[in-house]
Amino acid sequence: MKLRLIKFFKDFLLWSGILRIFSPLNHLFLFTRNFNLLRKWISGANRNTLLINDFYSWKRDYPKRFKLYEAVSEGYQLDKKELLYLEFGVASGSSFFWWLKKNTHPGSVFRGFDTFEGLPEDWGGFKKGAMAFSLGEVSSDDPRAGFEKGVFQESLNPFIEANRELLHSKPKLIHLDADLFSSTIFVLSQLYPYIHKGDIIFFDEFNVANHEFFAWQIFTESFYVKLKPIGAVNNFYQTAFVVE
Ligand SMILES: C[S@@+](CC[C@H](N)C(=O)[O-])C[C@H]1O[C@@H](n2cnc3c(N)ncnc32)[C@H](O)[C@@H]1O
Repeated sequence: MKLRLIKFFKDFLLWSGILRIFSPLNHLFLFTRNFNLLRKWISGANRNTLLINDFYSWKRDYPKRFKLYEAVSEGYQLDKKELLYLEFGVASGSSFFWWLKKNTHPGSVFRGFDTFEGLPEDWGGFKKGAMAFSLGEVSSDDPRAGFEKGVFQESLNPFIEANRELLHSKPKLIHLDADLFSSTIFVLSQLYPYIHKGDIIFFDEFNVANHEFFAWQIFTESFYVKLKPIGAVNNFYQTAFVVE
């Protein structure tokens, strides 16, 4: 009886399309759902075990992210380790060049992915095309560094096909700084087969409920991947995880 009622109710919604009256609230509903999940996750995270954490601080200080990098680098001795560093969202290269300077192992490989023409979609107050820096502005003489220009949706898979061995052989530091849900979920889902225990993943806008957090939530729940938080700053705006 209960199932028949549910079926009838769903059929009615489908036939009538009546829920369209709530369309203007779609974003708010999604935000409410994701924000509540984010807040619940923060409450459940064992903040005492993090290498660095400032929850709750009233001031957001974007450069504090370098303190997170420093803490994780020190905690996992990443400065001397042979790494594959993959950054998604390079823009002017602040974070990319921080890690390139920090890690001195000659066998490390650094690759930065970006359109180098700015965001491919609007993101909050930022319009499509915002944060554009040309490839010429971020070039490096370091032979370990290289860049892949284009939307990830076109550049990542050719890179994966050409570098399967590399992706499996070196411990990875994956830096997700593309802001958008679509970009972040795409990267995580394509890199999934190459993500191994001990790899480290940074989210630069983790606490943005409908974007990086949503991608993290969909990815961890759909791919059954366990990511343990290891450090966070700016109230989890920047958060680092290790793959378990
Ligand atoms: C916040 S900026 C990166 C900031 C940079 N990591 C830093 O430390 O200064 C975000 C970048 O992501 C890039 N981006 C976002 N989605 C992308 C996609 N699907 N494909 C390629 N680039 C993307 C944008 O072009 C933009 O340059």
